[in-house]
Amino acid sequence: MNLIILLFQVHSLLSPGGVNAITFTLKDGAPTYAVDRMKRPVLLESALGFELSGQGPLDRGFRIADVSRSSFDENWEQVWGEQRLIRNQYNEMRVTLRETGDNARTLIVVFRAYDDGVAFRYEFPHQPMIRDFTITNEKTTFALAGNHTTWSIDAYQWNRFEYFFEERPLSALDTVHTPVTMRTAEDLYLSFHEAALVDYSTMTLENIGGNVLKANLMPWADGTLVKGSAPFKTPWRTLQISDTPGGLITSYLILNLNEPSKIEDTSWIRPAKYVGIWWEMHLDKATWGSGGKHGATTENAKRYIDFAASNGFPHVLVEGWNLGWDGDWYRDGAVFDFTQAYPDFDLHGVAAYAKEKGVMLMGHHETSATILHYEAQMDSAFALYERLGVRAVKTGYVGHGREIKWFNAAGEEQREWHHGQFMVRHHQKVVELAARHGISLNVHEGLKDTGLRRTWPNLMTREVAIGQEYNAWGSEKGNPPNHLLNVVFTRSLAGPFDYTPGVLHLTLEPYREGNRVKHTLAKELSLYITIYSPLQMAADLPENYSKYPQAFRFIRDVATDWDTTLVVNGSIGEYVTIARKTRGQDEWFIGSMTAETGRVFDVPLHFLTPGLTYTAQIYRDGDAADWVTNPYDLVVEERLVDATTILKMKLAPGGGQAVRIVRN
Ligand code: NOJ
Repeated sequence: MNLIILLFQVHSLLSPGGVNAITFTLKDGAPTYAVDRMKRPVLLESALGFELSGQGPLDRGFRIADVSRSSFDENWEQVWGEQRLIRNQYNEMRVTLRETGDNARTLIVVFRAYDDGVAFRYEFPHQPMIRDFTITNEKTTFALAGNHTTWSIDAYQWNRFEYFFEERPLSALDTVHTPVTMRTAEDLYLSFHEAALVDYSTMTLENIGGNVLKANLMPWADGTLVKGSAPFKTPWRTLQISDTPGGLITSYLILNLNEPSKIEDTSWIRPAKYVGIWWEMHLDKATWGSGGKHGATTENAKRYIDFAASNGFPHVLVEGWNLGWDGDWYRDGAVFDFTQAYPDFDLHGVAAYAKEKGVMLMGHHETSATILHYEAQMDSAFALYERLGVRAVKTGYVGHGREIKWFNAAGEEQREWHHGQFMVRHHQKVVELAARHGISLNVHEGLKDTGLRRTWPNLMTREVAIGQEYNAWGSEKGNPPNHLLNVVFTRSLAGPFDYTPGVLHLTLEPYREGNRVKHTLAKELSLYITIYSPLQMAADLPENYSKYPQAFRFIRDVATDWDTTLVVNGSIGEYVTIARKTRGQDEWFIGSMTAETGRVFDVPLHFLTPGLTYTAQIYRDGDAADWVTNPYDLVVEERLVDATTILKMKLAPGGGQAVRIVRN
C-alpha cells in the first residue's frame, strides 16, 4: 500500500462552479495532468516537462516539494473591449517539483481551473542549477479523449497565418497554429491556445498520434526553442471549454490570464473607425510607390481627410507615403525610410490639415520583416508621428515566414521564423516603445494575439489572418463565403481582428476582373459586429460610398466599443449571430451572417430594457438576394421593438443582416 502511495501522488483542482477539474499526478516521479468537465474526460493523462540544453531531461525523477492552493475572484474593467466588465474567477494550485538526488532542480507548475476552461504555466524559480538556460523541447502534451473534429491552419508555412481554416479530424492534423477549435462527438467545444506570450516562442501543436497533440515551439535559427534566465515564467497553456460554440466567443479566459494594464493613463487609447489610402492600392487603382499612380499624394490625402471629417471617422491611414516603396520592398525592407516622405506628399502639411479638420493621420510602418533595419529607426519614426499628433500606427511584417535575417556574433546570417522568440521579443519592444510615444498599434502579419491587450491596451488590433485584401487579389478570386464563419470561432478567439470591413462595391469594377467579395451587402455590414476589432476600417473608396448611401449610413453609425457581447446563435463554419451593446449608451447592434446556405432565425430582444420602446434600423438581404447572383439586394427598414420582440431574420445564401437598435 505504501508503495502505491509513493508511486502515484494525486492532487486535484476544481473550478469555482465545480465544472472543470484538473488532476495532477506524479507518476513514478514524472508529472502528468488530466482534465475533466462535469466528470467527463476532456484530456486524458498528458505530459509535462522540458529538455534543457546541456542538462538531463526535466520531466522525471521529481518529488512534490509543495502544493499550495488559492482562490481568486474579481471584476475588472477593460479599457476598451467587447465586454466592459469581466469576472476573473478561478481556483489555483501551485505544484513545486524538486528532483531527487544531487544537484536537484526545481520546476513549478501553476494550474488554474475556471468554469470556462483550464490553464497552466511553468515557472523556473531562482536556483543554483538553472540560471541561464536554453529549452530544446517543451514536453507538454494534450491527450484528447477522442478523434474530434478540428478547425485550424497549418504552422511552419511561408505565408505565416494567412491560410483558410480547415475542418479536419484530429487524426488528419500535422502541426497547426493555435487557436485550434474542436468539437467532440458529445457536442462539447474546445479551444486550445496560449495566453501572455512574452519572451518565449510561439506554441504550435503537433499531432504525435493517438489523439495526442504536443507543444511544438517555433525554433530559433540555431534550432533551439527558447532562451531564458531564471526566475522565468512561460506563457499559459490554455484550454477553453464550452457547451456551445458561442460560449467560446464569450469566454474571457485568455484576457483573465494576462496581467493588468501597465499603462497608467489610458485615456489616449480610443476605439475608432478609420478610412485610408489603402484599398486603392489593393485594387491597383493606385500604387504604394512613386509615379503617375502614386496613392499617397498630398491632394489625395486631403480628399480622404475631408471625407473622414464629414463622416465622423477619426483616423485616416496613409500607406505608401514614406520612401522605399519603389522596387522590391516585398523582399527587402532595408529600402524603407520611416521618416522621409516622397516629394509629392507634404507630411507636415497633411498632418496640419487633418488637425484643422478634427481628424488624425494613422501612421504606417511596413517593415517587410527587415527587423534590425526597422529597429534602428523605430524610435525616431514613432517620435515623428507623436509630434504630428498621430495616435495609431499600422505596422506590417510582409515577408516569407522564415526570412527574418540577422547576423550572430560570428557574423553568420541567421534566418528566423516570424513567430519565434526573436520576433516575440521584437513585438514586445515595439508595443512598449509605441506606448511611450502615446501610440496604439494595428499589427499586420505579426504574432497571434495572446491577450496582451490587457497589459498593453495600446496593442489594439491585428490582422494575422486572411483579411479583406485577399478579395482584391487572392488566388481564390475572393475569400470563400465560409471563411469568416470559421474565423469567428477560431482566429477571433485569440483577439481583435483588423479584417478591414466596409467594401460595399463588392464586385470591384472597374479595377479587378474575376475577383470579388463573395457575400451580400448586408453580410458585409454585419462584419462590424461579428468580427470584433476596436479599430474598424471603412475600407472602400470614398467614391464607392456615394453609390451605396443607405448601407454607408450603417458604417457611419456603428459603434466600436462595447459594454456587453452576447452570442445569439452559432455553428462553426456555418452561421453566427452576435448582439453587442454600445459602451455607455442604450443602443444595441446585432450582426448575423451565414456561409453559402440561406437561413431564418428568431432573435429574441430580451436584452433590451423592459418597458422601454426602441427603433430597430434593419439592414437585411432583400428577398431576391443571393451572394452569387444578386449580392446588392439590400432592404433598409425600421420597426418599433421592445424587450418582448422576437426579430425574424432571413439571411440569403452568403448573406447577413445588420441591425441598430436605438431608444425612442
Ligand atoms: C499587407 C497588409 O496586410 C496590408 O494591409 C498592407 O496594405 C500591405 N501589407 C502593405 O503594407
